[in-house]
Amino acid sequence: MAMAERTLGARSAPARYDTTSRVFHWLTVALVLAAAALGLWIAHAKPADSIKLTLYNLHESIGVTIGLVTLARLLWRLGHPPPPLPEDLPKILKLAARANHSAFYLWLLVMPVLGFIATNAWGFPLTWFGLVPLPDPIGKNVPLAEMVTFAHRLMAWSLIGMIVLHVSAALWHQFVRRDGTLRKML
Ligand code: HEM
Ligand code: HEM
Repeated sequence: MAMAERTLGARSAPARYDTTSRVFHWLTVALVLAAAALGLWIAHAKPADSIKLTLYNLHESIGVTIGLVTLARLLWRLGHPPPPLPEDLPKILKLAARANHSAFYLWLLVMPVLGFIATNAWGFPLTWFGLVPLPDPIGKNVPLAEMVTFAHRLMAWSLIGMIVLHVSAALWHQFVRRDGTLRKML
């Protein structure tokens, strides 16, 4: 059925991502937007705000979930490669799209690891959504915490830049180039 859909659709519109890949994509979008919003809220909340500890727990638990979802998504992708980019897209833009997608995967794997190291090194081991205590293999280490938090922040801001670029590209494909790229993910 899926094959038939692809073959039939090939003449009029590009093949879509399979359902699981589309679910992974939009689940990741929701989780990343939530983690980023909470991260920025934490950065601006005063240390005395009573909600701050809850914000940390939510941010970090969602972040760990993003890491796990990304691992599962990459494993799924191995057996379910994405549909091709538009054939007539200039080579440089194909390269940019691939670089953007690969960087997303790398960022979404590395950021949770850095966040996890940071919170342990600050001396606040994480209990996932207040339910599952996670290991604390590092112990308190403030100089390490400062370094890793800095790297996590740099990655957070570059991730936000990558999202702006990615969404602008999706809108350009949809409204300027009108090549059906957005539909592949809907
Ligand atoms: C992909 C997942 C994640 C994203 C997108 C993300 C995003 C962010 C953002 C936007 C900030 C604020 C940056 C700033 O201060 O300007 C932040 C801070 C932080 N994040 Fe994450 N984060 C993620 C995962 C995690 C995880 C898994 C943990 C810990 C287990 C974590 C721990 C922290 C900590 C400790 C801070 C510093 C907050 C502060 O005291 O200022 N993050 N993150
Ligand atoms: C947190 C925000 C987002 C992240 C982290 C993200 C991540 C990704 C990744 C990793 C891929 C590559 C999938 C693969 O081939 O393996 C992708 C593809 C795609 N994304 Fe997003 N995305 C985000 C938001 C959005 C939004 C808001 C839109 C729509 C406006 C969108 C539209 C698309 C489309 C159309 C593709 C397919 C591109 C193609 O076929 O070349 N994404 N996204």
